[in-house]
Amino acid sequence: MRTHYCGELNQQHIDQQISVCGWVNRRRDHGGVIFVDLRDKKGMLQVVFDPDDAAMFADAETLRNEFVLRVEGKLRIRPEGTNNPEMPTGEVELLAQRLEILNASETPPFQLDDEDVHDDNRLRYRYIDLRRPEMQYRMQLRARVTHFLRSWLESNEFLDIETPMLTRATPEGARDYLVPSRTHAGSFFALPQSPQLFKQLLMMSGMDRYYQIVRCFRDEDLRADRQPEFTQLDIEASFIIEEDIMNLMESMMRDLFAEVMEVEVEGPFLRMSHEEAMERYGSDKPDLRIKLELKTISDVLQDVEFKVFSGPANDPQGRVAALCVPGGNELTRKEIDDYTDYVGRYGARGLAYIKCNDVSQGREGLQSPILKFLPDEAIEAILERTGAATGDLIFFGADKASVVNESLGALRLKVGQDRGLVEPGWRFLWVVDFPMFEHDERENRWNALHHPFTAPATDNPDALEADPGGTLSRAYDMVLNGTELGGGSVRIHDMEMQQRVFELLGIGEQEAEEKFGFLLTALKYGCPPHGGIAFGLDRMVMLMAGAQSIRDVMAFPKTQTAACLLTQAPAPVSERQLRELSIRLRKPQAES
Ligand code: AMO
Ligand code: AMP
Repeated sequence: MRTHYCGELNQQHIDQQISVCGWVNRRRDHGGVIFVDLRDKKGMLQVVFDPDDAAMFADAETLRNEFVLRVEGKLRIRPEGTNNPEMPTGEVELLAQRLEILNASETPPFQLDDEDVHDDNRLRYRYIDLRRPEMQYRMQLRARVTHFLRSWLESNEFLDIETPMLTRATPEGARDYLVPSRTHAGSFFALPQSPQLFKQLLMMSGMDRYYQIVRCFRDEDLRADRQPEFTQLDIEASFIIEEDIMNLMESMMRDLFAEVMEVEVEGPFLRMSHEEAMERYGSDKPDLRIKLELKTISDVLQDVEFKVFSGPANDPQGRVAALCVPGGNELTRKEIDDYTDYVGRYGARGLAYIKCNDVSQGREGLQSPILKFLPDEAIEAILERTGAATGDLIFFGADKASVVNESLGALRLKVGQDRGLVEPGWRFLWVVDFPMFEHDERENRWNALHHPFTAPATDNPDALEADPGGTLSRAYDMVLNGTELGGGSVRIHDMEMQQRVFELLGIGEQEAEEKFGFLLTALKYGCPPHGGIAFGLDRMVMLMAGAQSIRDVMAFPKTQTAACLLTQAPAPVSERQLRELSIRLRKPQAES
């Protein structure tokens, strides 16, 4: 039907006989001539209909936005002064000799170039939204990324192997999506939260190096970088240690960026311990493009009168930290109040601050409602540690360390963005030396920081049991510009260690046998040391595309409430289907 794509035509094709197909982006009538911008996946081309051919001209007059056309004609140079430097095809136009209207369109529910379309509308009519050049670019970018990753991994001996979608619950910490079994009444499959256990079993199967671009399902609260179904680049390899896998993945990412983004990413990637990341950035996925850092000042505030500070300063679980904002002295009362509300969302009970009018004058040059509670030594130490200069402002957080880290960590990002302190570029790093477990105060139990198959830094189960809170794991996360791109670990390949970790997590022998018996059995039959990683492919493409949400790089994403507006899923099913599945729904009335 066509000889060329609209978007690829230029001066080289002048005087050639061309056919193109696409959608009417816009029709303009100009003094007896009709112009149509025709759009396809490669871009836009101006088509001209001359009134000399009366029949064709009459057809051209009926054209509306989103009509689907095939046009034949001769490509010509645009007349002097009418070329459009904004369009890649802006120097040429197609003089139509034949017009076929392949399909008409009703008035679309929104204009493609309208910036203010409600998200719901875009999702309901996603096939129209996807016609936008920006979305075309994103889908093409995504395809190039997956194509590159596949060929890179295959040339490095990784084997693409599929794993089941109808499976058992996989513990990645979210709620499962369940699928009722018809043939086993009352039993359910779970959709995989990740292929974690299968990829480990593949290592035990001697596959040596596995990868899969695979859909994962997690029923969790959605955010801009989370969807209920998302795609992982999932990887596992045998006979490796963390150093091997990290080096390999690092070179894969650098090659990917060189090839697809034409960017040379600096290597080797910085490596930072979890502890240092929390201390300096209040986050396990620090955005290193922002230079601001948190400084602990607990030690200098233990004896101050101000209980807000001395309480957490003396609490082993507490932290008092400062965040110095260069030039922040100019912040207004209202702006400070807004930041106080902002940290409140992360659990902070306030946001003390000191304005530095003139640091050379010591206390006299400072301004703050809390100044009167602080002795000179404390003030000196704060100024020294934060490196505050005249014109700066220092924010404070005092609470449980987790609250301070979360709230000041978030404030750091917000202030950095608001004040234009985000440096351009791609700042990759590895976060390593995670604690093996974190303690759940409320339930008084240990939780795995990654997942229960992550190897501890020690090979000795007794040492692990003696100090669960102080033992590090062999996990690593790759972080890019403040987003956790991927995470993985060296795995436990010893049955006894695996059992002891289950025990520490409160998974008793019986439960472990019931849920993970197949894994424990497999560990008895010759399991190689192995490890791996999984990247969030959507997140990777989101960052590369400069998009704000992973929704923008998924063809058919779901809403905040995990629904598909296009197909209206999830949807009720018939009584008969439910009966077949041995499911009885409780009538709403019966609940009251
Ligand atoms: P983890 O749970 O860290 O590890 O997931 C790996 C990566 O997947 C991405 N991701 C998500 N992306 C979009 N929406 C979500 N709801 C979502 N949840 C996670 C993140 C994350 O870094 N089996 C382990 C990996 C391993 O140990 O090899 C796992 O799934 O980018
Ligand atoms: P108050 O004594 O409650 O009036 O607080 C005095 C100052 O300390 C105010 O600026 C509060 O915002 C701030 N503040 C209160 N609680 C905290 C906290 N947990 N962390 C940091 N600042 C706080």
